[in-house]
Amino acid sequence: MSEALPTNPRPARIEVQALGPVLGAAVTGVDLAQPIGPATAEAIRQAWFEHLVLVFPGQDLTAAHQVAFTEVFGPCQRNPDPTRKTLDGRPEVRPLVNRDGEPGPRNDFWHSDVSYAPEPVSASVLHGREVPAVGGDTMFCNMYAAYERLSPGLKRLLATMHAVHSARANYLTAGLPLDQMPPEHVHPVVRTHPAARRNALFVDPHFTIRFADMTEAESKPLLDYVCAQAIRPENVYRHRWAGGDVVVWDNRAVMHRSVYDYGSQTRVMHRTTAQGERPFLAA
Ligand code: SIN
Repeated sequence: MSEALPTNPRPARIEVQALGPVLGAAVTGVDLAQPIGPATAEAIRQAWFEHLVLVFPGQDLTAAHQVAFTEVFGPCQRNPDPTRKTLDGRPEVRPLVNRDGEPGPRNDFWHSDVSYAPEPVSASVLHGREVPAVGGDTMFCNMYAAYERLSPGLKRLLATMHAVHSARANYLTAGLPLDQMPPEHVHPVVRTHPAARRNALFVDPHFTIRFADMTEAESKPLLDYVCAQAIRPENVYRHRWAGGDVVVWDNRAVMHRSVYDYGSQTRVMHRTTAQGERPFLAA
């Protein structure tokens, strides 16, 4: 198939249908293998800001199509996680492959992608190329709602705090030397979404190792508490994959995790990410 993209695509008539009360929506009426014009791209971004996780069912994408689609949300990055491999000739696309005798990466822990970077990922795009008959779901939670549901006193306190994010857990799992880790970064515990202008909790139980100017032991009870609030069942959308689904989520307002219940079943996903910005809390 030729991957040359025409330059003047007609706007698609997209339909957006909520998949859950707090986050998640299905988007139909658009073929992501075709170039996406500015009006359609804007409609997709607006739906994304509202629903945080968008599901585009039944998409047949090459790696080049996926990279082009990721650009709707920001510059598509080369894979930002040095512990993970990319496709040959496509440094932006990270395959997550699990097969019988070839166990894949698990990602079965709540996190926000690459939050230890100085300018963490905004959008993550995951294309389910081969999915298990059952199992291998991905779960998402709404970090605006997680923040908004806290008491006024705790919200005020968290809004004054910063936290340290580190790739340490990934390096330990991969058995890589910790002295080759990227530097840790400190981010506000509450961040303002630059487009939606809403405030979200920005900590996770995997990459956030402690609050700034506190020890890990001192930080743990409060970190555990706020993360537990974020992942309450009523704050979660659980995506059951069908082959061809493309799912895009906003790491500035969502944590996610996979569910490792698929054993040796084949699960082949392609992941791309868009460059984000330095997290900030607006006055
Ligand atoms: C990820 O954590 O980036 C991937 C999640 C999944 O494999 O479901």
